[in-house]
Amino acid sequence: MKKFYSKSEKETFQIGIEIAKTFVCGDVILLNGDLGAGKTNLSKGICESLGVKKIITSPTFTIVNDYEIGDKILIGLERVVHFDFYRIESSDEFYNLGIEEYFDENSISLIEWHEKAKEFLPSKTKSISIKILSENEREIIFED
Ligand SMILES: Nc1ncnc2c1ncn2[C@@H]1O[C@H](COP(=O)(O)OP(=O)(O)O)[C@@H](O)[C@H]1O
Ligand SMILES: [Mg+2]
Repeated sequence: MKKFYSKSEKETFQIGIEIAKTFVCGDVILLNGDLGAGKTNLSKGICESLGVKKIITSPTFTIVNDYEIGDKILIGLERVVHFDFYRIESSDEFYNLGIEEYFDENSISLIEWHEKAKEFLPSKTKSISIKILSENEREIIFED
């Protein structure tokens, strides 16, 4: 378990960069925290660290954003997949998404609002929990 403390969006981004250095191919990362905690912000740092070259946007409306790796930082890593299940209303939507096919050895997955997808997730996951301490302060706990 590792604990971080952030005072700004920029620091959270940087913490994402640091945490991602410990990731390996196939990792599935559950992102916990209230709306506006900074899950998407942290994901931007993680993606940058893993070699994604595209601009990261929130998957709130798309449910899933799939990024190819520009700079090969991890051998075998081909994609970072960023999910946000906030708007999912029934299990059918997970089947339509083909969710299980995303979790393979050539990808790293980041998942916001994973509670809804419990039965579809692999048994081994890592998690990052962001707690809002004040308007600009966050406590970030990484468990691998
Ligand atoms: N220390 C901080 N770390 C991350 N975001 C922060 C911080 N302080 C303020 N914010 C603000 O909180 C919001 C986080 O948004 P976002 O990353 O989309 O959250 P989530 O994906 O958890 O809903 C942004 O508006 C950001 O500017
Ligand atoms: Mg978000």
